[in-house]
Amino acid sequence: SRSINLAVIPGDGIGQEVVAQGLKVLRAVLPQDVKLETKEYDLGARRWHRTGETLPDAELEALKGHDALLLGAIGDPSVPSGVLERGLLLKLRFAFDHYVNLRPSKLFPNTATPLAGRPDIDFVVVREGTEGPYTGNGGSLRTGTPAEVATEVSVNTAYGVERVVRDAYERANARPRKKLTLVHKNNVLVYAGHMWKKIFDRVGEEYPEVTTDYLHVDAATIFFVTQPERFDVIVTDNLFGDILTDLAAAVTGGIGLAASGNINPAGDFPSMFEPVHGSAPDIAGQGKADPTATVLSVALLLRHLGHEAEAVRIEEAVSADLAARTGAAARTTDEIGDALAVRVAN
Ligand code: IPM
Ligand code: MN
Repeated sequence: SRSINLAVIPGDGIGQEVVAQGLKVLRAVLPQDVKLETKEYDLGARRWHRTGETLPDAELEALKGHDALLLGAIGDPSVPSGVLERGLLLKLRFAFDHYVNLRPSKLFPNTATPLAGRPDIDFVVVREGTEGPYTGNGGSLRTGTPAEVATEVSVNTAYGVERVVRDAYERANARPRKKLTLVHKNNVLVYAGHMWKKIFDRVGEEYPEVTTDYLHVDAATIFFVTQPERFDVIVTDNLFGDILTDLAAAVTGGIGLAASGNINPAGDFPSMFEPVHGSAPDIAGQGKADPTATVLSVALLLRHLGHEAEAVRIEEAVSADLAARTGAAARTTDEIGDALAVRVAN
């Protein structure tokens, strides 16, 4: 479409700094005739300290009216663990039915990684985003006593599994290698694991060109390090996907490069794009954060909204920028943003 009405949630810590660069590159890459409107939402730790609110209903409603959301990072040590995660980030993912949590991993040139020099690492994790152990379905009995019992139930519905598995097949089918790996733990998690495998096999019959594979999650972590080129598209449960994508980021150049999209493929709600990294309060405000993960998340945002050429321009700019990085003095957040903005504009 010829206009983008974007909601911006800079959030906490380095979120503010990296989002500013993401927007800078977005403005630089968009053709003149695409109108960009942005509206900033003050959500996160500061808001919570000031008003006690995480995500008021009125703002949730207002966010629904946007084409997409760009989020920096949420979280601060001054806020009790779980308050912002559940009350803001997961609330958005659940309310907007972001059932595809898309996390690509590509080995860019010149990145500090134990896997340097292996150019064929290019895979994408399709992490389920609305079910599994993230639903808050659990409880605590005899809390605070020596006999305390805590449960955290993983919820898996046939509907929820089928739709994310189908999305992963579509993505695999659209890529040259056409390979899809299901990662679970069906030797132990026999109820959910068997249902995932059954649905994976059944939906697979509709995609005869896609080669399939299955790995237990523990084995998958080994292959992420020893043989990452074996992966093309991976589909997995919410929690396994959370853990695997941090590992994927670490082995392919670090968390400073890892982008993600929380996607509602049906388009019933706006999708939300964010770097995989957190708010990094230890380096906040110092211009040290690498905005590249946010810039690559902007590329995913553009692709989702149908601006494929602009998405590719950003990805190529990042690749060229990384290739040009030398061991010399580290650049500031702003300098990296400027360099990328210049590259995409040319
Ligand atoms: C992520 C984060 C979140 C998650 C937290 C902050 C709730 O780790 O986006 O990967 O577990 O999904
Ligand atoms: Mn995570």
